[in-house]
Amino acid sequence: MAKQILLRGGRVVTPQGVQRLDILIRGEQIAAVQPDLMAEAPLAEVRDVDGFVVLPGLIDVHVHLREPGGEHKEDFTTGTCAALAGGVTTVFAMPNTSPPITDRATFEEVAARAAAKAVCDYGLYIGATPHNAEEAATLCRQAVGLKMYIGSSTGDLLVDRFGAQIEHFERYPKDGIIAVHAENEEAVQYYAARGQHRPPICAGLATAYVLALAEQTGHRLHVCHVSTAYELTLIHEARRRGLRVTCEVTPHHLFLTTEDWARLGPLGKVNPPLRTPQEVEGLWSLREAIDMIATDHAPHTLAEKQGASPPSGLPGLETMLPLLLTAVHEGRLSLPDIARWTAQRPAETFGLARKGRIAAGYDADLTLVDLDAEWTIGNEGLYTRCGWTPFAGRAVRGRTAHVYLRGRLAFSEGRVLAEAGSGRAVMLE
Ligand code: DOR
Ligand code: ZN
Ligand code: ZN
Repeated sequence: MAKQILLRGGRVVTPQGVQRLDILIRGEQIAAVQPDLMAEAPLAEVRDVDGFVVLPGLIDVHVHLREPGGEHKEDFTTGTCAALAGGVTTVFAMPNTSPPITDRATFEEVAARAAAKAVCDYGLYIGATPHNAEEAATLCRQAVGLKMYIGSSTGDLLVDRFGAQIEHFERYPKDGIIAVHAENEEAVQYYAARGQHRPPICAGLATAYVLALAEQTGHRLHVCHVSTAYELTLIHEARRRGLRVTCEVTPHHLFLTTEDWARLGPLGKVNPPLRTPQEVEGLWSLREAIDMIATDHAPHTLAEKQGASPPSGLPGLETMLPLLLTAVHEGRLSLPDIARWTAQRPAETFGLARKGRIAAGYDADLTLVDLDAEWTIGNEGLYTRCGWTPFAGRAVRGRTAHVYLRGRLAFSEGRVLAEAGSGRAVMLE
């Protein structure tokens, strides 16, 4: 008989609301979620979680774990430890590594590293290049999606010509997802030559373009890190016409602005860039159109960020949840919004059959939160190898207390308990 654990008396978050419920875990899965389960499972080990809010383990569909080739910034173990510390139980890793993940050999090599080193569950993207449309398509069952950079960013993955783009949209299987970094490369270069870093028009043009590509080919599309109200409006309208498009917004585009960038200098540099306070307000006002929050966790060392040519990218795994919980206290979000944005919609979109909800039959991935803990984010004690956060100094309310991954306590009171290799590749429906 599989081990049974009864989590008693937590405030369980479902899309419908927050209720005081018991959760019975049997082995790796949730066996029952009901008000009073004591009588149902007399032999279960009982853990009193009265006082905690219980969220479905967060699913972050956009992280950079830097392995292979960037292990001085992060690796599968440090990055997934940061995930657990942030309440995240599943991450999808991006392919802009060195070498990039663009063929079966690199994909399998990286999958083996992840299997040996990850402490949370994971999926891997396959990267698009101008020449790999045929091979990438053959990986659609193993990969969580095809990642296409139609504008350049960190690394050298770039598909900025129509011929190569259309080849991917035509060949990649129609039930697979193409996830796009949407910034217009010509506009990026134009503004760079004039000393400007990627103003909103770069993202707006590229998102309009890639929506047209998806609509004309009938392909599923996921737009990464939407940073402007204009993009959200376009996506919302495309969806109303029937296009199967989803989008993510990052915590840094919701909780930082150009004013923070001015203060942070190169530490605040990211693609797409932080936006003006008015633009950020625009994103918040259209939040109904947001499908999910994803961190775009993109660690670089402090020395790199403060060097002569600072790379773009911000770490985010450990700070997403406290920022969202603080927004709940401020009345800008609800706990069910968080569950929908960080677990349910990511799981539904990418087809993770047993993840994303607290319900019988689902994986027992659970994030227990102390909703009232008040603390200040700092650079100390982070699990990410880069060792800094753009949110240092920010007062927040709400903290990850305990995290269960498939029924096992994987993080508790500041400590990662899961061992390297205990994370597992996700199964797609
Ligand atoms: O700022 C960014 N950093 N944007 C990206 O698209 C890539 C990421 C990275 O890998 O550093
Ligand atoms: Zn990107
Ligand atoms: Zn990214």
